[in-house]
Amino acid sequence: MLTLGIETSCDETAVGVVEDGTILSNIVSSQIAHSKFGGVVPELAARDHIRTVVPITRVALEVAKKRIHDIDLISVTRGPGLIGALLVGLSFAKSLSIALQKPFIGVNHLEGHIYALRLNGQRLQYPYLVLMVSGGHTEVVFIENEFVYRTLGRTTDDACGEAFDKVAKLLGLPYPGGPYIEKYAQQGTLGAVKLPVPRPKKLSFSYAGLKTAVLYYTRDNPDYEQHDVAANFQESALQHLVEVVDKALDRTGARNLGVVGGVSANSCLREKFRALARRKGIQLHIPDMQYCTDNGAMIALAGERRFERFGASDLDADAVAREPLDAIASSKS
Ligand code: KG4
Ligand code: ZN
Repeated sequence: MLTLGIETSCDETAVGVVEDGTILSNIVSSQIAHSKFGGVVPELAARDHIRTVVPITRVALEVAKKRIHDIDLISVTRGPGLIGALLVGLSFAKSLSIALQKPFIGVNHLEGHIYALRLNGQRLQYPYLVLMVSGGHTEVVFIENEFVYRTLGRTTDDACGEAFDKVAKLLGLPYPGGPYIEKYAQQGTLGAVKLPVPRPKKLSFSYAGLKTAVLYYTRDNPDYEQHDVAANFQESALQHLVEVVDKALDRTGARNLGVVGGVSANSCLREKFRALARRKGIQLHIPDMQYCTDNGAMIALAGERRFERFGASDLDADAVAREPLDAIASSKS
């Protein structure tokens, strides 16, 4: 089956062509217009998707050496995300479906990130635990079987990527700040700035306290060293993830762990979770760097799997700003 995957939920216009789980092409265009505003401007994002989605689709097909008429299924992110941005991809996918008379399926963005673990034939046995760490979500999910999700804990305030972006902004670094924090942290000294590791009582995440601690530190020390703040913020933020996942592994007895979402592109995170996996004697799965952040290939594969089990979506399927994984469990999306 040849699937076109379209992703426009936030500030990346991304299209991938996937054949039975194998990636033939994966083209991502990151919008840079938001950088000067220090965050995503929803209306600008939607307008940029309108300009970009058709050319990006052309390139994706060209790289895959396929024609649009070869496509068997059109898969698109229907949420969660920015409604205006989602509607661009969704309307485009529905139009293609009508014009080509091919089925269309709307998929959940978080489920897309989870399927990034299975691209190119990578195998992962059920049940497994997933840590989802992106700009909009930070949650730990137990996946009992295909399409059966149980969210064990999520953030009570900011998402991890959001905290990286906000701290980067505070340090005067560009948006999106995650990769800049990682780069600056490489030259910082651990321990040079004392920052707390968040430790909520329940199996949940929280970044508000850590973010405020960075704010107070930079306010009280106007000559602060950017690299040291970045390094110590990153250390606390990632240590928090490791500690919560450690608890979730004990609670579920899971022997397989997946880490997905934009923040999983962070090398320090990857190293910390490799160490955790060694310590616990479990199998760790993290997608290749390019499939950690938003992309069309993961949406294509999630759509392909859902289509095989539940069939196509109706053409009146709507975009959704919020849609927890538990809500889509084993149902047609
Ligand atoms: O999954 P994603 O591309 O989009 C969402 O669904 O949110 O994740 C984007 C987030 C941003 O907050 C970005 O700063 C963060 O992932 N990110 C990183 C790194 N690369 C991307 N955070 C830390 N280190 C990185 N290397
Ligand atoms: Zn994402």
